[in-house]
Amino acid sequence: MGTLVMIGGEIRSPDTATISVFDRGFLYGDSVFETIRTYGGELFALTEHLERLESSADKVFISVPIPIARLADEVRHLLAEAANDESYVRVVITRGGGAMGLDPNLAESPERVIIVSPLVAPPAAYYQDGITAVTFKSQRPAEVAGVGGAKLGNYLLSVLAMKQAKEAGALEALIVDGNGSVVEGASSNVFGVRDGRLITPELRTGILRGITRQRVLEQCEILGLPVEMRAPSLDELRTCDEIFITSSIREMLAIVTLDGARVGSGKPGPVYRQLLAAFRASLQS
Ligand code: PDD
Repeated sequence: MGTLVMIGGEIRSPDTATISVFDRGFLYGDSVFETIRTYGGELFALTEHLERLESSADKVFISVPIPIARLADEVRHLLAEAANDESYVRVVITRGGGAMGLDPNLAESPERVIIVSPLVAPPAAYYQDGITAVTFKSQRPAEVAGVGGAKLGNYLLSVLAMKQAKEAGALEALIVDGNGSVVEGASSNVFGVRDGRLITPELRTGILRGITRQRVLEQCEILGLPVEMRAPSLDELRTCDEIFITSSIREMLAIVTLDGARVGSGKPGPVYRQLLAAFRASLQS
């Protein structure tokens, strides 16, 4: 049990898992990645994650070095070797190493890395009481580079947003773009609820096509909850009855305080609770 790493198909212990300092993932964040979790030891939405990985790689002209069906086998193999009750899985594809310089043609061959660690799930109190968040003004690097929706290795914006969140004692930062619209979280998608209607940014804003977001939208459809696909302004979001975020690791968490101000009743609201129950029930089927 514990952390195991696989680099280019070879299993390594964490202390011997190293890649070159010339790897462009290290030098430039020239890589794409996915984060996946298990439920009952089974990988959640593995195929969707690996398809998104391939799509992110395509957007930035990195070729995934092996077919994703084989990558899936490697992930399953490493997971079995790690033998954790529940795991956190990171799959990274970098453009690889080569002579120094920005030109992507300098890269010799793409590198694949899989990391499996014991899952650290959010404490139950976060689901019961909700969490606090701050806002952070910025554009996502993927949008700036014209490759919106790609899960790029360069997460510096999210790192800085989380620094601000931590300094304020918060657990997430909501990214507010140049138009004053809330587009997503540092590592999550965002939903607002007003008068029983959900509001969530459309994919065209360049956000990550969150797999949890998609599952939640499916539950909205089943439950007959109306959804408006648009990025709310920060003012609008602040006055929503409920706000929640979605992500693979954190599932769904209600934001009950935003920038120090109470959201709605200050407790996880009925729409959040209904959707969380439906989402969790859908995992059993
Ligand atoms: N992050 N938006 C961003 C910027 C993210 O980093 C993530 C996920 C999401 C949610 O996507 P999904 O539901 O497919 O996990 C949205 C992962 C969990 C991470 O930070 O490792």
